[in-house]
Amino acid sequence: MKQLLNRTFEGTLRVPGDKSITHRSLMLAALAEGRTEIHLPLKSEDTYRTMEIMRAIGADITESGDIWIVESRGHAHLHSPAGPLYTGNSGTTSRLIIGLLAGLGLEAEFSGDDSINRRPMDRVQRPLLDMGADIRLKDEKYPPVHIYPKPLKAIDYDMPIASAQVKSAVLLAGLFAEGTTVVRESSPSRDHSEIMMKQFGAELSSKDGVISLTGGKKLTSADVTVPGDISSAAFPLALAILKPGTSITIENVSLNPTRSGILEVLEMMDANIEIETLPGDGEAIGNITASYTPELRGFDISGEIIPRLIDEIPILALLAAYSNESCTVSDAGELRFKETDRIRAVVDELSKFGIRFEEKEDGFTVLPGEIEPAAGTAVKGYHDHRIIMMLIIFSIVSDTPLNIDDTSAIDISYPGFINDLESLRKDA
Ligand code: S3P
Repeated sequence: MKQLLNRTFEGTLRVPGDKSITHRSLMLAALAEGRTEIHLPLKSEDTYRTMEIMRAIGADITESGDIWIVESRGHAHLHSPAGPLYTGNSGTTSRLIIGLLAGLGLEAEFSGDDSINRRPMDRVQRPLLDMGADIRLKDEKYPPVHIYPKPLKAIDYDMPIASAQVKSAVLLAGLFAEGTTVVRESSPSRDHSEIMMKQFGAELSSKDGVISLTGGKKLTSADVTVPGDISSAAFPLALAILKPGTSITIENVSLNPTRSGILEVLEMMDANIEIETLPGDGEAIGNITASYTPELRGFDISGEIIPRLIDEIPILALLAAYSNESCTVSDAGELRFKETDRIRAVVDELSKFGIRFEEKEDGFTVLPGEIEPAAGTAVKGYHDHRIIMMLIIFSIVSDTPLNIDDTSAIDISYPGFINDLESLRKDA
């Protein structure tokens, strides 16, 4: 990483495919009858966990360069896995397969790595129990998760938390439930499941935060082209804004409004960004250019924007540290249930450099002030890809070599992260 310090960066990048969309394409392709091509999927630790599980229940999946080919005889031909499943570090795999396996009426057991085995699964279990599922959790909350076959009936579900994972699990189960499943959201969470279920032929409609899905419709295969992941793009974009002499364009990235809250905050901060939308149906896509911005304004965000930028809050905390004004994030208590407690992790690690935080249960305020980077400072990544990438961007922006305990978790969402940054070095 030393090769990235004391440099400026310029150029154009395509970040890896969207993680949420890649997981969902594998799952829906396995449920659908026929052959689905997934173009430009995210090839990462998390998405390979979903791939292996779809194989274990009977989907035939092959890789051919940047295309994954899923062949399935349809949901009725999928079967219970031969042994316990493993979801690794992937929250999306874990939550969504509970709905999918319960919906299919299969018997299965899964657990994940240490982080997953400490993350709550009862948020998904609760609505599924209401649908008639038989799902058992360790200490009524955690993996290992056991799912037993039971027929499901539709429910009308008022979401108590804004969570696309919970919503998607209920919808996946709803595909096979008797009747029309209704999900009500007070704040919009990412809607990739809804968009893709329609593309695969589900009878689904969505309006004003109310999603209705009628069970029992056979899904048919549909090819998918995965756009770049805005959650990955956020790191090079932050680098461009914070590093003097730097300008970076990210091409073909998802601009889905349920994911692009970060761009609204960058605008609030008066960051130099330009967004070019590209034509197409399905997911909104475009190119984003960000350039060095010497004076960043503050922000105060809460409420409906939070689910639309939930994964970008660690890198937003770093941007906030370089602002001349105070920056506040509220209503983001969900961050405490991610790969690690991201509020704690951000506050603990960035405080080591004189960055002043006021920590709250549901967020934090970053106060303006001097940053005091000290070479060789030991920092922890908590085996959390987004915390590690944020710390790496801080190291590059401040030209400070840091001693990060373990960077291997980058591969969970952005293998090639360091190489991509290297390709943008001005002297490369
Ligand atoms: C995801 C939803 C979000 C997000 C996660 C991916 C998804 O989690 O943090 O990285 O693909 O559905 P929640 O829905 O639990 O907030």
